[in-house]
Amino acid sequence: MQNQNSSPIALSEQIADQLPQHIAIIMDGNGRWAKAQGKPRVFGHKNGVTAVRKAISTSARLGIKAVTLFAFSSENWRRPEEEVGLLMELFISVLSTEVKKLHKNNLRLRIIGDKSRFSERLQQKIEHAEKLTETNTGMVINIAANYGGKWDILEATKSIARKVANGELDADALTEELMTDHLTMADLPEVDLMIRTSGECRISNFMLWQMAYAELYFTPEFWPDFNEESLIEAVTWFVNRERRFGCTGEQIKTLMESQ
Ligand code: FPP
Repeated sequence: MQNQNSSPIALSEQIADQLPQHIAIIMDGNGRWAKAQGKPRVFGHKNGVTAVRKAISTSARLGIKAVTLFAFSSENWRRPEEEVGLLMELFISVLSTEVKKLHKNNLRLRIIGDKSRFSERLQQKIEHAEKLTETNTGMVINIAANYGGKWDILEATKSIARKVANGELDADALTEELMTDHLTMADLPEVDLMIRTSGECRISNFMLWQMAYAELYFTPEFWPDFNEESLIEAVTWFVNRERRFGCTGEQIKTLMESQ
């Protein structure tokens, strides 16, 4: 969050009321972005971190309640060993350098996914980051890592099945709300807006349950190029789509520039 404007964006009540509460982002295109410049894929991931900072800072300034970023899917282990190793190193380094800044800005950081496959060192960094920021009251940042929507639903189902088996729950009394309560991010509003960069139009096993009613926004921009303006464009699209009337990108941009 360093060197970035962290002052809130004063939106009119009408616009503020229509903003998405929870934005989920599939950060795609790091590899292609790097390749286009004749650089190794990891160069794209490193520049992706800069885009992560911008997305977090802009979302917080807009007053978004939660942002969930897909950093590493359950399927990403299939990538070359070297790239996986470098990504893990990058996660450790980002956690080491960014957590204090997030904490200073009253933001809460959580890592969502099966953490058991990560190295001891990464698990410790995650634990430290989550503990440090757990009582913060600002925006919640979820980093989905070794996460899959099917995994999430399966874990919830197992937990419910265990309760049914030991008589704690009646199978006929199961409801959607109860299922939601057993999923990750149960305490957050469902996703309103899902953004995927790089032109791919897939959900790729992201938050399958939580995105049931999300508006899906696909942009051809590669993730490292996704900046403040790109996010505002996506949010503006959402506001207009959702309510059929509403603000223009210009309105929000003007408000931001006046800060
Ligand atoms: C997708 O691009 C990107 C990833 C799988 C990794 C995302 C990681 C970061 C943005 C950096 C670290 C983030 C955090 C939150 C610490 P791709 O490699 O699939 O690109 P391609 O489709 O062009 O090959």
